[in-house]
Amino acid sequence: MSIHHIRVTINGKLYEGDVEARTLLVHWLRDSLRLTGTHIGCDTSSCGACTILVDGKAVKSCTMLAVQADGRELLTVEGLEQNGKLHPLQEGFHVEHALQCGYCTPGMMMAALALLKRNPDPSEQEIREGISGNLCRCTGYVNIVKAIQYAAQKLREPEQVPAGS
Ligand code: FES
Repeated sequence: MSIHHIRVTINGKLYEGDVEARTLLVHWLRDSLRLTGTHIGCDTSSCGACTILVDGKAVKSCTMLAVQADGRELLTVEGLEQNGKLHPLQEGFHVEHALQCGYCTPGMMMAALALLKRNPDPSEQEIREGISGNLCRCTGYVNIVKAIQYAAQKLREPEQVPAGS
């Protein structure tokens, strides 16, 4: 069993730890750091519940080893809210009723954030493609798409969408 010391910036804060070479990133986040907003649905890279951003790109954290995150910058769902203010994506999921059980929601929002970073004004088709690696078993995708459209508009033109409307 080989142990590695890693240093990873997560949500703007530096974390350090000793991890086994085989430890999956999602397990380190949840079990060691207690960042449990990142969910595990399948553990086999199918569902997207574990999606986070690694250096700004969406990654399923069950497909990556913790040692591979050494020196990288991560954003998890816990990093979306800033100074007690919901991120437009969180607000959009609330306003558009885009969740029921909520299990897929963190992964959905992180996949959507990666999409909006590379494409601030996506079409409905582009949104559907952007979240195609993320499964939802209860709402269907209509309101999730609406939530992402809400966030896209708010991020482009913050004054156009009143908060909580
Ligand atoms: Fe990683 Fe399902 S838990 S894709």
